[in-house]
Amino acid sequence: MPSLRNAYPVSRAYKRNLTILISSPNVSVKYHSDVPGQSLWQVRGTKKLYVYPASKPFISQPALEKLILGQLRETDMPYEPWYDDYAEVHMLEAGKMLHWPLNGPHRVVNENMLNVSFTTEHWTDELRKHYAVNYANGFMRGRTGFNKLSQQTTGLSYYAKPRAGRNGKIQPAQPAKKEGLHRRLPGRPQNA
Ligand SMILES: [Fe+2]
Repeated sequence: MPSLRNAYPVSRAYKRNLTILISSPNVSVKYHSDVPGQSLWQVRGTKKLYVYPASKPFISQPALEKLILGQLRETDMPYEPWYDDYAEVHMLEAGKMLHWPLNGPHRVVNENMLNVSFTTEHWTDELRKHYAVNYANGFMRGRTGFNKLSQQTTGLSYYAKPRAGRNGKIQPAQPAKKEGLHRRLPGRPQNA
């Protein structure tokens, strides 16, 4: 991870996490989005990854807010078979990795062999701001009924958000874990 960070020094990542996944032949992971920045690294076997645009209708703003607020399980996101027409399809073989846009919906299907892979999660200041804005928007949408809520992380609309959300000091409801997917809190560590 240090060499990767040196290679891409644009924004220093923190709250990094690695999860090893060992999965059976032909199993699949349902359509879902992850809250942190995430990559998938293949060690053994082959997976087919479908990566969808990180925009509506594939992921709506209210759905993202519910995901962040812990009101929607990752794998309960609405999915329609026609979404596949808009997916990037990648065959992930051993030694390859894939990274996709933040919150981009994706699903995974193993080929007919045992698969060993790992996911890496990370946060950056930019990702944390995005999280905080969507958390604040979800909070306001639920209490005020407002529908037009900006996702900008700069300017007046950002600074007008509730302070707790803007500072990233909010704690989402503890999410349910499923299939090795789980959400991480994006608080910025003092030594990051
Ligand atoms: Fe995922």
